[in-house]
Amino acid sequence: MRPLILCAFLLAPAFGADPIRFLAEKKVFVLDAGPNTIAFGLNERSEIQPLYFGQRLWRDQDLPAAHALREWASFDRTSTITPQEYPGYGAGLFVEPGIKVTLQNGVRDTVLKYVSHVIKGDVLEIKAKDQGYDLQVSLFYHVYPQGIVEKHTVITNKTPNVLTLESAQSGTLHLPPGEGYRLTYLYGRWAGETQMVHEPINPGVKVLESRRGNTSQQSNPWFAIDGPAPVSETNGAVWFGALGWSGNWRIAIEQTSHQQVRVTGGLNTFDFAHTLKPGESLETPPFYLGFTDQGFGEASRALHRFQREYILPGGLTSKARPILYNSWEATTFNVNEQGQTELAKKAASLGVERFVMDDGWFGARNDDHAGLGDWTVNPKKFPNGLKGLIANVKALGMDFGIWVEPEMVNPNSDLYRAHPDWAMHFPDRPRSEARNQLILNMARDDVKEHIFAVLDKLVSENDIAFLKWDMNRNVSEPGWPEVAPSEQKKMWLQYTRNVYEIIDRLRQKHPGLEIESCSGGGGRIDMGILRRVDQVWTSDNTDALDRLKIQEGYTQAYTPKAMMAWVTDVPNFNGRSTPLAFRFLVAMQGSLGIGNNLNHWKDEDFALAKKMVAYYKQVRNTVQTGKLYRLASPRDPSGFQSSQYVAEDGKQSVVFATLHSQQYGRPVPTLHLQGLDEKAVYKVTVLNGRTLELSGASLMHRGLDLNLTGDYAATSVLIERI
Ligand code: GLA
Repeated sequence: MRPLILCAFLLAPAFGADPIRFLAEKKVFVLDAGPNTIAFGLNERSEIQPLYFGQRLWRDQDLPAAHALREWASFDRTSTITPQEYPGYGAGLFVEPGIKVTLQNGVRDTVLKYVSHVIKGDVLEIKAKDQGYDLQVSLFYHVYPQGIVEKHTVITNKTPNVLTLESAQSGTLHLPPGEGYRLTYLYGRWAGETQMVHEPINPGVKVLESRRGNTSQQSNPWFAIDGPAPVSETNGAVWFGALGWSGNWRIAIEQTSHQQVRVTGGLNTFDFAHTLKPGESLETPPFYLGFTDQGFGEASRALHRFQREYILPGGLTSKARPILYNSWEATTFNVNEQGQTELAKKAASLGVERFVMDDGWFGARNDDHAGLGDWTVNPKKFPNGLKGLIANVKALGMDFGIWVEPEMVNPNSDLYRAHPDWAMHFPDRPRSEARNQLILNMARDDVKEHIFAVLDKLVSENDIAFLKWDMNRNVSEPGWPEVAPSEQKKMWLQYTRNVYEIIDRLRQKHPGLEIESCSGGGGRIDMGILRRVDQVWTSDNTDALDRLKIQEGYTQAYTPKAMMAWVTDVPNFNGRSTPLAFRFLVAMQGSLGIGNNLNHWKDEDFALAKKMVAYYKQVRNTVQTGKLYRLASPRDPSGFQSSQYVAEDGKQSVVFATLHSQQYGRPVPTLHLQGLDEKAVYKVTVLNGRTLELSGASLMHRGLDLNLTGDYAATSVLIERI
């Protein structure tokens, strides 16, 4: 995509201009984000009023000045119906506010007016202030070439008294007024994450949110809005966005009775009250927003590229994800040096690059009733400490990773016996256990420092390349008795900030360390955690068929590079058994891992797995850093699914195709590939099958017929530019 963007820059006269401009005469801000333009202006009341968010415009003169809308009726004053980039709750505002404040004197009226602005390259800061009190809000906009703008705000209390924020949002997206839009979002539950839902947007407010203390499996902080004309994978207008926050978040999608469609995202207002003393500030999480006129496929590719370049640690210089083996489904809590070494030998023989020991290695952790919090190696299971196993793993040519769940404690643990007050609780209320564990109040500085010290010691004393950081329950009884009642609700924010801080400090101190975000599967996947981890655990559900839909939903929002997908034993989750080749070809559509009990494998399983691992290594860069085209949806009633990846340099492409169950002897549909060069000729090799030479035009327009028959059939096609 980069060359295309460069071309666009060269072709259009205004594209040589600065990416952010202020047209002083009209008081209009123009922001160019790669293929998109965003514009807003200052109206007669000095409010910041959105004007445009869509395809790139090349002529600044075309943009109108901002004018407040006329009052519709005494019930809809101009303050309510004039769209604002970041309205305060005040002056009779009835739409979702950007900010809601209670001042110490009881005033609950905030009207923000433009004060000044600073443009620094691709970042704009607009300083606004309440019309009366010295409550200041800086609105930040950062534009990126992938068509994305990042919005967040910094709210500063410059008044002489304490104030309380009751809503602190990151920003708002305004669509062209109208009806007939459609919302797409991701919902789910444990073992059923990132399920796609489409629904019409009607008057009223639809709230996507988490109140659970983490991102949540139930709802993911991503949305897309398409329409009003029908939109497909390849065509049509899609506005999309994602919040970079792993705590309580909220995205409100609203259609007003004046047909304004607006999306407000930021910190959840539920149980939220954040005090600011004089001089204190609150920075809201980043809200990433984008647009494309090329359908859902391009919307996701823009996010994938953006995440790979700007969000994931290391950006474009970061390594390909190694193929890992994880012991969890094979041995659960029954880990010991000998057993893990046996598995490691077998994993290494397959070509696996990283061996990860999961739960069960520490304290009295023989099942999920005890030991969480005691992060010292169990001497009975590991008489040589971790060093013995790590040496064996390294001698086999793999690096070593380990599971931790730092935010948790079993009541039956030395940590809890020493610090019962560290678990989140209200003093006179029962503490609800989930999976026999309580959640530590990570908002406390002493807890944060303890967890940092424990993890720092673990990775300093052992040659650990990778942590799988888990979080296996949500918050209940969100008390913080050590601080004043008026401060206790700050826990929600401070918890997430401290988790972020620990990860950031660990990575800084141990630059080679890689981290996976796991929360009972996909409970902590968002653009906030992706800034600090290398990969995520997509779901505890490793049933290959279920995974196809989970992966389809996941890739709407997040890059396949970070999407961990394991091949595991059958019968799996639903009691379903699928062939090993099918399981591999599903898992290879993301970052491949293996979680089988290799002690139970037959020679032919090893032979097949070796071939698949070698094949994955051949195509891994294309899968992980290429462009993803979802050719056929697993939600299609035909039961046929296919995804195609095209390397950034266009030299390689790989197609995966799966068939749930053939019916009536019907052949699978012809596959029309995408993203190839029409004029180029490609060598086309079907896995275990024929090799042909075909032009890009033929592959995309005439298509490719695959011979997939029966149930749980799967194949892959390698396409190499000649
Ligand atoms: C969670 C994770 C699993 C595994 C177990 C260990 O459920 O998602 O992958 O690590 O915990 O207890």
